[in-house]
Amino acid sequence: MTYLSIARCVVLGLVWGLGPGAVLAQDPAQQLARGEKVYARRCAACHGANGEGKTAPSLVGPHSHLSGYGTAEALFDYTRRVMPADRPGQMHEVQYWAVLAYLLKENGLLPPDTALESASAPRIVLDRCSPEGAPQELPC
Ligand code: HEC
Repeated sequence: MTYLSIARCVVLGLVWGLGPGAVLAQDPAQQLARGEKVYARRCAACHGANGEGKTAPSLVGPHSHLSGYGTAEALFDYTRRVMPADRPGQMHEVQYWAVLAYLLKENGLLPPDTALESASAPRIVLDRCSPEGAPQELPC
């Protein structure tokens, strides 16, 4: 066995071991930084530089309807299927989680120090006004 083939086995083993859909543990701050970049590149053209809305609805602020999705998990399911509208479903799962973490944060809907991922998303209720919701940084 050469070093190269050993390295290949290790890499394959890692990829296989993670399995489909597995998401590596995220650092919340890194995820938000990634999400901001994804937003600027893939979403801002239609939704506005700061999510204020443009040709597509507002995603940040009092006119956004993200809370209508109920949980971060439902918002993820919707967004991954249909967005970006010009290339639906084309981004990596990690990018979808990151961009939604960024949008939730901007709306005051992301609990502090929380990485958005399949494990945390069902528990994140998108209601600024509910007692279980995230801190009320914006008015209800
Ligand atoms: C080519 C234009 C375009 C791009 C790019 C785009 N969107 Fe959209 N988006 C739309 C349109 C149009 C709608 C409204 C769809 C509808 O009402 O059926 C929408 C709706 C949405 C909604 C639902 C909003 C609501 O009020 O329910 C979310 C969430 C969303 N987009 C997220 C994203 C994210 C995240 C990105 C970037 C990864 C993105 N979009 C990129 C055009 C776009």
